[in-house]
Amino acid sequence: MALSILEIYAGFIIILLVVILGYLFFQAYKKNSVCSLKQLMLIGLAGVGKTLTYNYLQCKNIGQFETFQIGTSGELCLVDSPDMDLESKYEKRETRIKQFQQFFNKFKNTINGLIIVVNFERTDLMKQKIIKVLKYLKKFQPDLYLLISNFDLSENQSQDEQQLKEQLKLFKFKKIFFVDKYKDNSDLKQELLQIYIEQPNFRIDLQDTIFEEINKNDEEKCLQQLKNQMSSDNNPNDILLSK
Ligand SMILES: *[C@@H]1O[C@H](CO)[C@@H](O)[C@H](O)[C@H]1NC(C)=O
Repeated sequence: MALSILEIYAGFIIILLVVILGYLFFQAYKKNSVCSLKQLMLIGLAGVGKTLTYNYLQCKNIGQFETFQIGTSGELCLVDSPDMDLESKYEKRETRIKQFQQFFNKFKNTINGLIIVVNFERTDLMKQKIIKVLKYLKKFQPDLYLLISNFDLSENQSQDEQQLKEQLKLFKFKKIFFVDKYKDNSDLKQELLQIYIEQPNFRIDLQDTIFEEINKNDEEKCLQQLKNQMSSDNNPNDILLSK
């Protein structure tokens, strides 16, 4: 008995639906598994070696959130984030802040460590780069880590490591990691895994940071404006002072 065209057609549609549903379930599962892993986030300006470090550690991509790349290497779960360049043009700054805001909000319960990245160069330049990023992460300062990439450029690593640890002491990093791309990555992997043990209860609280959700910021701005207005109603000179 031959199948009618209609039956073949219906069968085809059912198979298609099963495949689509399966795919959707798989995607949902993947997304959830990304969220349940504890992530260590690489943060820094452009060109400091975030992606280089991500690749050095042989991270395999398991998810993407806008321009944030999430990957695992063994038990490590790293986030390669876009440059935190918040000093440039107004429009870029706004977009970047929003992107970080969204990422932090989505992953705030699973981010387990923030690692600022700078490349090895003159110490004053490294300090400048650290300050540019640290400015926006001050709240987390006692829990921040520093990673120095391009350490293969050092001519005397033990000497430079010791000196840098001394010169960067004022930033109060929990620990400083060094990346020499010619060295085996297993040491760095072990050191990074240690973060999970050192601060198992690390949580990101965005309150009073630039990444706090917009609504709250707006509320505060309105309140501030209202206050300014009220005081300027009393004394017209305050308009000049508040501007
Ligand atoms: C590196 O610096 C240390 C301390 O200054 C010194 O003792 C050592 O000889 C240097 N090593 C090389 C290879 O230059």
